[in-house]
Amino acid sequence: MNKMPQKNKPLVSIIMGSQSDYETMKYTENVFKSLKIKFETKIISAHRTPNRLFEFALAAERNNISVIIAGAGGSAHLPGMVAAISPIPVIGVPIESKKLKGLDSLLSIVQMPKGIPVGSVAIGKDGAINAALYAASILAVSDKKIKSRLNQLRSKQTKSVKKKPK
Ligand code: RP5
Repeated sequence: MNKMPQKNKPLVSIIMGSQSDYETMKYTENVFKSLKIKFETKIISAHRTPNRLFEFALAAERNNISVIIAGAGGSAHLPGMVAAISPIPVIGVPIESKKLKGLDSLLSIVQMPKGIPVGSVAIGKDGAINAALYAASILAVSDKKIKSRLNQLRSKQTKSVKKKPK
């Protein structure tokens, strides 16, 4: 199997359980755009489109995807199900649900029983941004260009912090 990244092919898959999750997951896309990291975005629901989930997860390695970011809300089983099928690292983004403010999503994603790991980030927008930054840092281990762009972003962030409050 060809493991080399291919030009114009996505390195990362962003998936989410519903169109309603895109309000949050668009922030993940924005980070990848700013770091010039190729990604694909799909709606895949573990319970509404189970066949789509299986097809995606089975093909991900063959498609040279290096990291999968899965946004899910409520019982939030999407990241765990994808991780159960694919050996590619999965980062779960807990979507802020209406009734429990995303605590349900967070606990579901973070409480994976031993054997099948899923990384979890914070609930909502902060998590969506950090999921992309985390994926970028994984990719940066073997990609100098991504490492340099990530370092630039971090240094810009550091410089933007004023020493005194106004
Ligand atoms: C989950 O159910 C999705 O990830 C979404 O966060 C939640 C609600 O989905 P909708 O009812 O808005 O489609 O599967």
